[in-house]
Amino acid sequence: MSRVSLILALCGIAFMQFKKSNPVLFARQKSREPRDAANLITREKPNKILKDILLHYRSVLGEDYDPHYNHCLRVLNFSKYFFDKYTTDRKERDSTTSSRRRIMDIMAFAIAYHDIALWTDGELSYLEPSVAVMERDLRENQSIRGLFRPPLTTEEKLVAREIIMQHHKISPFAVSKADSNVPMGIEGEQMVNAVRKGDWVDATMGIVKHGISADILEAAYAEIPEAGFHYMLLGMGSRLSPDSIIGQLKVLKILKL
Ligand SMILES: *[C@@H]1O[C@H](CO)[C@@H](O)[C@H](O)[C@H]1NC(C)=O
Ligand SMILES: *[C@@H]1O[C@H](CO)[C@@H](O)[C@H](O)[C@H]1NC(C)=O
Repeated sequence: MSRVSLILALCGIAFMQFKKSNPVLFARQKSREPRDAANLITREKPNKILKDILLHYRSVLGEDYDPHYNHCLRVLNFSKYFFDKYTTDRKERDSTTSSRRRIMDIMAFAIAYHDIALWTDGELSYLEPSVAVMERDLRENQSIRGLFRPPLTTEEKLVAREIIMQHHKISPFAVSKADSNVPMGIEGEQMVNAVRKGDWVDATMGIVKHGISADILEAAYAEIPEAGFHYMLLGMGSRLSPDSIIGQLKVLKILKL
């Protein structure tokens, strides 16, 4: 074999591997019976907090409501997977169900707000503004505050804030050991990182995997359809900043190393 055909063959193999491990990207989705129906987060059995907050913003989201809602559902689904993985890795699966539900709810709460300023503020650099919307709702809206009983603690609010602030971070998030002002334990860090990974997986349709299997990815997209989310995302720059490329580049500010 000549060197060129060897290289071509290797490229071919690499591409087949890429295709095989990216079923969603290549629109190869089987419909399947979900295995663990009790554990499913679906449109029919969603997390209540996520649902209530997105309903609150339904008219602001307009026609993006469906694609955005499905994105949030998938991110929550992947976040739950990554969080569970941390706890099994720590061999600490014995946390009680109520604290696990609380953790899911806090992740769901932050996920409901993680991109919200794109719509509420029309802001391409939307991390801080999204946190501001969340904090304003907690301050000013009794029925949103009341979604948590007991109410969110200071530490839990900080975790929700960091989930939003760090969700485009490329490397793992860690509270600096030197900063004893930050009352966030290992569990808080893991919640931030679980959602960070979950959003990367969904925003890239699984090109960035963080170790999630093609099977899980495929199951999630079969259960919770893509619904035009990625086209919407690609169109956001020109929609929110139609006259200015520089304005569109503001979106780069959301990335953190
Ligand atoms: C708080 O949110 C609820 C639920 O969406 C809404 O019905 C209510 O009008 C809001 N209250 C205020 C004061 O904004
Ligand atoms: C995520 O969704 C898929 C497909 O519905 C499901 O099989 C899986 O159990 C869900 N994962 C979690 C952790 O809820």
